[in-house]
Amino acid sequence: MSVRLRLAALMKFSITNTSHTFIPAGLFVVFLHEVTSFEPKIRKQIEKIVLSEQFEDKQGKTLLIRIEQNKILVVGLGKLEELTMHDWQTVFAHMARKAKEVNAKTLTIALPIEAFAKKMLMIPEKLIQGAVEGLILGAYEFLKHKHTDEQKKEKKIEEVMFCVDTKFEKEVQKGIDVGQRTGKATLFARDLVNEPSSVTTPTFLSLIAQSLAKDNQDISCEILGKKDMEILGMGGILGIAKGSDEEPKLIVLRYSSKEERSKGSSSRTSSLNNKTIVLVGKGVTFDSGGLSLKSQEGMETMKIDMAGAASILGFFSVISELHPRATVIGLIPAVENMPSGKAIKPGDIVTSYKGKTIEIISTDAEGRVILADVLAFAETFHPDTIIDLATLTGACIVALGDEVAGLFTTDRRLGEHLLTDSFMSGEKLWELPLVKDYEELLRSPIADMKNVSKKRYGGAITGALFLKPFVPEGVPWAHIDIAGPAWQEKDSALCPEGGTGFGVRLILEYLKTQ
Ligand code: BES
Ligand code: ZN
Ligand code: ZN
Repeated sequence: MSVRLRLAALMKFSITNTSHTFIPAGLFVVFLHEVTSFEPKIRKQIEKIVLSEQFEDKQGKTLLIRIEQNKILVVGLGKLEELTMHDWQTVFAHMARKAKEVNAKTLTIALPIEAFAKKMLMIPEKLIQGAVEGLILGAYEFLKHKHTDEQKKEKKIEEVMFCVDTKFEKEVQKGIDVGQRTGKATLFARDLVNEPSSVTTPTFLSLIAQSLAKDNQDISCEILGKKDMEILGMGGILGIAKGSDEEPKLIVLRYSSKEERSKGSSSRTSSLNNKTIVLVGKGVTFDSGGLSLKSQEGMETMKIDMAGAASILGFFSVISELHPRATVIGLIPAVENMPSGKAIKPGDIVTSYKGKTIEIISTDAEGRVILADVLAFAETFHPDTIIDLATLTGACIVALGDEVAGLFTTDRRLGEHLLTDSFMSGEKLWELPLVKDYEELLRSPIADMKNVSKKRYGGAITGALFLKPFVPEGVPWAHIDIAGPAWQEKDSALCPEGGTGFGVRLILEYLKTQ
């Protein structure tokens, strides 16, 4: 089986000195703020058109101007002081889309980086990183299953040049490097989510993980199959997988830097400056709901239920290039949730890895049951922090809409860290409470817990509360419910309809600042 994902050739990025005396070939992008720095003849021409078109300096507005053979894209930004990282990335995503639309192979962007950095209170490196991410994400299309003619017709941006003051060359280059990696990892996750579930089976995901480890000596991978999980007593994963013909897999990825390995870090205790961070990704490769079958509409997009897993895999596809100091463990329970004569039934009781028994009220609340095993299993790695990414509840979408993920945490510092990372990465996160009084809603008369509450309200919270007792005692934990932002129902500048790769940029930012 071929398990390599096709990744479209990424655009090249380079730096040139600022010069506004001529207009370069391809598409030349200039911010409306900056038109005044042009040589008077060109400036007058541009200003005339801007005036006659009544172009407004608002974020997201663009105006394409043709002067002789040249194409200039005037871009509005509005008040720089009000621009968030997400807005900034969106502006560059618009540029990429415009460039593709007019079939420009090269894009030159005049970027007064110093002035922008000052007004936006960001360092030049971070602004360039965001710009590169916006361009890469905005140019993304998933055409793999389109007719080859359509694939060939895809217009590609080959090169992007930033016109910046050379005194910032080093920082700009660093921003380009980081942005390219983050962008690449996000596209990796998007491709995985967009593939049909008949391709991205648990076995397929495990082969992808193994290929990542094969290509990289800083990464190792172990796959636990059904037999291994039976020996370990992972009744949650095994129970949910019962209805499917696909064998469940537990994927274990480990990243540790060369220096750490040479220190003989086979000892499992973590040193002070090298933390062990466990990342868990829900990997339900298709969620039919099981015997608590979803409606036709509810099932339509359920290939996305492995988006958490896809983000962890995307993250591992670039992790070693970013040289984080931490040891990172990726844990992915990969199962398919299907109804059949062998499927788990409402009323059944499973014994989880931790020994706690769970009464299954709804087989559609399967994510929390498989995560219960894995969160408890994380203890084996002596983690300093555990973060899980999961498309866990529809209720989280009701609470926060489809652009914002829900954050639940047992640790203030970790919470604040992740909220800052959210702002800096452009991936929106909002904290919801782990309400202690709701814990009783998950009490079962015959088992240690039941998997859903009878109450209709607060479903994102009860989902998170279900997970909490399985987290190793005293380990800071964050649960990120990505059910909303993992998938986009309609095209936007940063992402076409489909998988978004949500979580990759956030977690990379988190790790960078460890
Ligand atoms: N995978 C779904 C959650 C989901 C819904 C993800 C929509 C993305 C978009 C999850 O397994 C599920 O079915 N949750 C149920 C829980 C309920 C049975 C308590 C839900 O949200 O309805
Ligand atoms: Zn479900
Ligand atoms: Zn699910």
